[in-house]
Amino acid sequence: SHTVGLIGAMDEEIELLLNEMECSQRVVKAGITYVKGALQGKEVVVCKSGVGKVNAAITTQVLIDSFGVSQILFTGVAGALDPELNIGDIVISSSCMQHDMDVTPLGFQRGVIPYQEVSDFPADKELVSLAEAACQTLEDVSYKIGRVLSGDQFIASRETVELLYGELQGACAEMEGSAVAQACYMNGVPFVVIRSMSDKADGSAHVNFAEFTVASSRRSHRIVSRMLSQL
Ligand code: ADE
Repeated sequence: SHTVGLIGAMDEEIELLLNEMECSQRVVKAGITYVKGALQGKEVVVCKSGVGKVNAAITTQVLIDSFGVSQILFTGVAGALDPELNIGDIVISSSCMQHDMDVTPLGFQRGVIPYQEVSDFPADKELVSLAEAACQTLEDVSYKIGRVLSGDQFIASRETVELLYGELQGACAEMEGSAVAQACYMNGVPFVVIRSMSDKADGSAHVNFAEFTVASSRRSHRIVSRMLSQL
């Protein structure tokens, strides 16, 4: 079967998907509700992972094991790290890395998971192309393809932005994508993360996040919805 798994971390990020889908069944596993149904003529399972890497990893594994999804799209908001990105702009993940994986005292570079071949999990090339095509088709969408950094932290300072952009070349920071990416990588499931910037991860991030999360979630949703129609 060909089922697409769609994940967002917060209500704002999946609300529009739920609104436009024909829901056939709701299943709860490990405290997460999975909504099965159809969207743009495709079989989908939509879910809210909750915030953070552990929630995202568990949700992804359940999507793969219990719902047999063949690909996963993540939709939501992020804090911009690349100074060229503005609020509302889209980042399409080329890869995802965990910026809070820090074993530097043992000589590993920041973000590197010790004794593991891959720490920067590559997104599926076809899904990246499809996302790019969606961005190009839709009007007034600015986008970048780049590295998505995840950690169990809300980034809200210039110094941290400079560290994450300088050392890890992250396009944006969020709290789930790389956990989804790692779970997908370990299971051989293609994925891509789509994020619209809600803030610039600086001293104003908390204010901007509160103001722009709804509008930016909508922008990310537009891309994912367009992608589904083309899958
Ligand atoms: N999601 C949206 N903005 C974020 C930020 N500044 N840090 C982490 N996750 C975010």
